[in-house]
Amino acid sequence: MLDCNYFHYTANTLNCDEVRLDELADTFGTPLFVTSAKSLIESYKAFEHAFASLPHFTCYSVKANYNLSVIRTFAELGCGCDVNSGGELYRALQAGVLPEKIIFAGVGKKPEEIAYALKSGVLMLKAESISELKAIDRIAGELAKTASVAIRINPNVTAETHPYITTGDSKEKFGIDEAELPEVFALLRQLKHLRLIGLDMHIGSQIFDPEYYVAATMKLLDIFNSSKELGFAIEFLDIGGGFPVTYDPAKPATPIGHFADKLIPLLQQTGVKVIFEPGRYLVANASVLLTRILYKKRNHTGKQFFVVDAGMTELIRPALYQSHHEVLAVTSHKQSVVADVVGPICESSDFFARHREIDAAEEGELFAVMSSGAYAAVMSSNYNGRLRPAEVLVNGSEVKLVRKRETYEQLVQNELP
Ligand code: LLP
Repeated sequence: MLDCNYFHYTANTLNCDEVRLDELADTFGTPLFVTSAKSLIESYKAFEHAFASLPHFTCYSVKANYNLSVIRTFAELGCGCDVNSGGELYRALQAGVLPEKIIFAGVGKKPEEIAYALKSGVLMLKAESISELKAIDRIAGELAKTASVAIRINPNVTAETHPYITTGDSKEKFGIDEAELPEVFALLRQLKHLRLIGLDMHIGSQIFDPEYYVAATMKLLDIFNSSKELGFAIEFLDIGGGFPVTYDPAKPATPIGHFADKLIPLLQQTGVKVIFEPGRYLVANASVLLTRILYKKRNHTGKQFFVVDAGMTELIRPALYQSHHEVLAVTSHKQSVVADVVGPICESSDFFARHREIDAAEEGELFAVMSSGAYAAVMSSNYNGRLRPAEVLVNGSEVKLVRKRETYEQLVQNELP
């Protein structure tokens, strides 16, 4: 079963909560992202429930879906934010997140982004290199501030997931190598405008096996103990994000409770607050991408294609990571066909499903590309002159337009004659 509880068939029509998806398509057009507010809230509560016995602070990783309404939904529940750029910090602040609930990540922060974060008063910046620590110190000095920092450790744990989203391996660009830590600690004693308050890691995304977290956390704990011996007063241990969701019912994700069962006993003994940075877990199954079938066609081998009006410009995950997304017909059919569901973009990687059993829908009908809440709208582009789609948020029978569809004028608005 997909965990898309709020997307369900009533009679033979797919609904989001109490709203028919075909009516949403008629009102707002397609392609359209439809998000269930209740699903967002439920995922957050499930996460909090799993880690309830551990003193912790959850920072939603806004890169997964940075629509202001999504950030605001979590902020209203008390959640903080993990941001990866000045733009994401701006979004989080616009959504009303308090700066002291924002943590700032990123392997390549520009000086102006560091200054923006310091002036905003974020909880901490997570530094990923010696050079960055020096830059933060210099900028904090210029602003007559003391910067609270965490150091992101590269624990050299290679979590099994798609190679593009594993980040805890020392051959990747992320974090500070353990071998460099003596130099880092020595430096931190000298830099007068820095205060080390956290140790941080993020080993990757869509990780199914809790043992990778255990291995990396053990390393973090070793470093925590050495830092204490050196006299540093660490207040936060940041375990990162990466918790998995089910995209394919044949490959159900490990329940979040299994991660909690392994991690809580390890982390409880430290006496410091733990930070989690879930992104995908909170949003992936809260949205669908609604798309209309433009044409059906066959090639000489009899292979069938559904050509739809959404493509890799709206959801690049199948093209980039060969990831699986369920494709459901909004009006269900008794018959099915084996077909490819492809978009209008001029690339062969522009597909949502290949050789998949799909409802035998007709031209003009709708498909819902499921689990499109994480790393979908945020990774959309204007390639091929495409307009970024509209987004709606559904709560019960209430529907709110939370992002307008782009216009042709917006496509050229920043260009000069
Ligand atoms: N914290 C940091 C420092 C991160 O870099 C990320 C994700 C997260 C937290 C949240 O990870 P999550 O809980 O969502 O797994 N575009 C890819 C995923 C890239 C993840 C990047 N970093 C995809 O569509 O699968």
